[in-house]
Amino acid sequence: EISLPPREAEPDSLDEIAKMVTACRRCALWNNATCGVPGVGPGDARIMIVGEQPGDREDLEGKPFVGPAGQLLDRALAEAGIDRGSAYLTNAVKHFKWTPRGKIRLHQKPGAGEIEACKPWLLAELSRLAPQVLVLLGNTAARSLLGPGVQVSKMHGLIEAPHLASRVILTVHPSFLLRQVDEMKKEIEFRQFIADLRLAVV
Ligand code: URA
Repeated sequence: EISLPPREAEPDSLDEIAKMVTACRRCALWNNATCGVPGVGPGDARIMIVGEQPGDREDLEGKPFVGPAGQLLDRALAEAGIDRGSAYLTNAVKHFKWTPRGKIRLHQKPGAGEIEACKPWLLAELSRLAPQVLVLLGNTAARSLLGPGVQVSKMHGLIEAPHLASRVILTVHPSFLLRQVDEMKKEIEFRQFIADLRLAVV
């Protein structure tokens, strides 16, 4: 069962949200994670970018998008003309979900219950920041804020969701690009990713 924090405990700043995320136990993922990973970025960011969940590096460093997917995102943002430092980056789920595979911690997709449990944090970040542009990277971010019917393989680009932000962009997750084995397809998808991100620049 998911319960919101009592009213008096509602966070009223991004810093406070970050502190509460670090200590969050709303689902079981904290058990195997190093720490909760809150969003980072300026409190007056115009663009908010939402990923899936922290990966191995992010879990160790406590910051979003610092591993391989983050590096690819950095390249794409630079090509799209977006300064990463001026955007607010966060995830739909704030703890790393993984399973041991030999010496590595293999990423596992968060389930519907974990996405729901974490959604109040994402909504708190969104309402505190009130960005003009919201960029959803992949299906987990889309599922959290738009519902389970939305799939990035079926639609991408500008999405009509004025209750979230005046411009909402749905695009692929950079990990999807990292997984592509066909170099040509990877390049085509990367170009499309940049084109989607450019929609954030108005
Ligand atoms: N993938 C994500 O969705 N978020 C991160 O922070 C890192 C990898």
